Amino acid sequence: MSQATLALRARILHFTDKPSADGAGVEYFDDGVLLVEQGRITAVAAAEHMAQQGFDVSRCEHLPDRLIMPGFIDSHIHCPQLDVMASYGEQLLDWLNRYTFPAEMKFADPDYAAAMSELFLDRLLAAGTTTALAYATVHAHAADALFSAAAKRNLRLAAGRVMMDRNAPQALSDTAAQGEKDCRQLIETWHGKNRLHYALTPRFAPTSSPEQLAAAGRLYQDYDGLFLQTHLSENLAELAWIKELYPAAKYYLDVYDSAGLLGPRSVFGHGIYLCDDEVQRLADTGSSIAFCPSSNLFLGSGLLDMARLEAAGVGVSIATDVGGGTSFSQLRTTADAYSVLQLQGQSLHPYTAFYALTLGNARSLHLDDHIGNFAVGKEADFVVLDLSPDDLQARRQSQTQTLAEQLFALMILGDERNVARTYAMGECLYDNKK
Ligand code: GUN
Ligand code: ZN
Repeated sequence: MSQATLALRARILHFTDKPSADGAGVEYFDDGVLLVEQGRITAVAAAEHMAQQGFDVSRCEHLPDRLIMPGFIDSHIHCPQLDVMASYGEQLLDWLNRYTFPAEMKFADPDYAAAMSELFLDRLLAAGTTTALAYATVHAHAADALFSAAAKRNLRLAAGRVMMDRNAPQALSDTAAQGEKDCRQLIETWHGKNRLHYALTPRFAPTSSPEQLAAAGRLYQDYDGLFLQTHLSENLAELAWIKELYPAAKYYLDVYDSAGLLGPRSVFGHGIYLCDDEVQRLADTGSSIAFCPSSNLFLGSGLLDMARLEAAGVGVSIATDVGGGTSFSQLRTTADAYSVLQLQGQSLHPYTAFYALTLGNARSLHLDDHIGNFAVGKEADFVVLDLSPDDLQARRQSQTQTLAEQLFALMILGDERNVARTYAMGECLYDNKK
């Protein structure tokens, strides 16, 4: 990695806290300078201020009109589901059987898994996403391949091998014992190495036996700082199935709770159909929900009541859930979040949306000591955005008066076309001109 100082001059936006109505928490420089040394932020300030302090602003690479923001964070995404995106006509359980499991079976081939892991990370970076909480497949070598590809790029990534010992094709099934053994090995190899974190990944309660969930609970106890990712209350047919498979459970979340899987690093995908007791239990344990609006619309799953969760003190992050989700772009995903909330009389202010994609998601994942904004000392993961990549967006942007209007047009009309460059630890890993 280069040790040289990186100095960029552009428009710069980041969040120091959850934005409030009066704009507190938002830090914006119309003409700003971002300095990076050894992969970390050393300064962010107005160019004029830097010049007054004696800094030679002409040293900067000047990117006028570009907007620099912290890299986006995706709190729920499936590496093997790139080819599942845009598969027609099914809801969750049939979609899994018809499209998803066949796509994941191809990862039995280690070369294929390695190539797809590279492609997956390249697509994330092209979308401006620098950190994700990601599912691999049930194959240990596929998790290895994903971690290796992330280590090569020096990305901060949390990921895990899927655990799945029933109600799945034989070729994708493990056993509770084998799953535990593979996970231990992967944790020992990758957890805490470079910028990597291990995430225990029982797919969801229908595809894990109680013994397997108990094994996941043991692992959660045995190692510090692990994540736990799984799916919860996404679809009504799934809920009915849970009642059959776990008749003694008080409600869906109780299945995970009984196995010791709740806690501050537990991130449950979806959580659309939750009773009050489940919401309370999530809040009490510091567990969070990954809101996946694009997936929830595409699979016809339902509308997440975000206001209810937040009012109860449950952390909510925003995630693509590719390949149930239809885009790697967190811009497109927040546009869908806005629509899902509009249908319920709720809203998503652009400041709140971009806070969520950066510092908010970092806080939900307890990674905000490392990433999420441009506080001095944090890792320099950021995206350089072009707000006018085509005639339509240029025209719309030309009619805006305020930063909030510009950001709203970006989040509603934007996608990968808006990502000019993506940096991790101060290294440019994606440049749309190259
Ligand atoms: N529930 C169990 N597995 C999956 C998956 O791969 N995607 C989604 N959206 N929901 C799931
Ligand atoms: Zn998912």
